[in-house]
Amino acid sequence: MNELDPVIRPRRLRATPAMRRLASETDLRPRHLVLPLFVREGLTDPQPIASMPGAWQHSLDSLRAIAVRASEAGLGGVMLFGVPAERDAVGSGATDPEGILNVATRALAAEVGDALVVQTDLCLDEFTDHGHCGVLDARGRVDNDATLARYADMAIAQAEAGSQLLGLSGMMDGQTAAVRSALDESGFTDVALLAYSAKYASAFYGPFRDAVESQLQGDRRTYQLDPANGREGLREALLDLDEGADIVMVKPALAYLDVLRQVADISTAPVWAYMVSGEYAMIAAAAQNGWIDGDRAQLEALVSIRRAGGDAVLSYAALDLVEKGLVS
Ligand code: PBG
Repeated sequence: MNELDPVIRPRRLRATPAMRRLASETDLRPRHLVLPLFVREGLTDPQPIASMPGAWQHSLDSLRAIAVRASEAGLGGVMLFGVPAERDAVGSGATDPEGILNVATRALAAEVGDALVVQTDLCLDEFTDHGHCGVLDARGRVDNDATLARYADMAIAQAEAGSQLLGLSGMMDGQTAAVRSALDESGFTDVALLAYSAKYASAFYGPFRDAVESQLQGDRRTYQLDPANGREGLREALLDLDEGADIVMVKPALAYLDVLRQVADISTAPVWAYMVSGEYAMIAAAAQNGWIDGDRAQLEALVSIRRAGGDAVLSYAALDLVEKGLVS
C-alpha cells in the first residue's frame, strides 16, 4: 500500500444502527421458526422438563393454549411429539386414532390449523417399549422393511387426525417413498413430507430423551448417520428428494452447518434444520449460570443456521424469542 491507496473501510457499513440494518444479509422472522411441543397422555397440569429449561411436557389443555400463542406470534408451525402412557413392541399407540399424538393433532388442527402448519413426528421411538425407531426382528435388530409398513399406517393415522406435514425422523431406508405412496393411495395427496434426511446419531438428543421418557438402551447407530460423514448426509438428502420429499432437513444444526450448506446448495426443495434439545439446553444452562446472554446466544445460533442455508428452523426457543420481541 502506498500513501495514495485509500484504506478499504468495511466499517462504514457498521457505523450506525440504520446502516447495519440496511447491510444485514440474513433475515430471521417468526415464519421461519417451528416450535417443537411435547404432549403427555394423562397429564392434567404441564410439567417442566428439567434438562430443557423453558420447555414443558404439556397436557392437552396446555398444549392447545401454547399452540394458540404460537399462532398469535406468527410462527411458521408447531411440531408435535407424543408421550404415551403405555408402550409395546410395535408401538401400537402410534397408529391408534385414540393414541395421544393423534388425539393432540386433531385438537391442534381444529384450533390453529388455519393459522400455522400443524406437523407431527412420524417415528416409533416414543411408542415402543424398547425405544427404537422401528420394530425389531427375531435377533433384536431394527427391521427396516417391517418398520416401513408401520410408518405407512402411522402416516395414515396422522393424516386422518389432520397433520399437514409429517416429519419422517426414523431414518429407515425407503421411508419417504413408502409413506408417500401410502398417503397417495388413501387420497391424502395434499399431506406434505418433511424428510429428516441427514439425521446424525448425536449426543445432542439427550434432553429430548428425557422429554419423551425414552426407553432406549444402547444407541441408534445402525440407522442414524455417523457424525464423521458429510457426503453421506448429502446422499440421504438426494435420495429423499428422489423419493418425493417436499422438504429435506439436517439435524442437529449447529454441529452440522457444513452439511446444511452443502444440502442447501444442491436441493431443489426447501431445506430445514433442527436445533435440537442439547443445542438448546447448552445455551439455556449456561444462561442460568449467568455465563452467557441466553437470548442473544439463541438468536445468534438461529441466524447462523439461516445463514448456512436453513429456510426454516425447529427451535425450542422460537416462541420465547418472538414473545420477547427479539424476532419480529
Ligand atoms: C425421533 C426424534 C428424536 C428427536 C426428534 N425426533 C430423537 C432421536 O432420534 O433419538 C430429537 C430432537 C431433539 O433432540 O430435540 N422421534
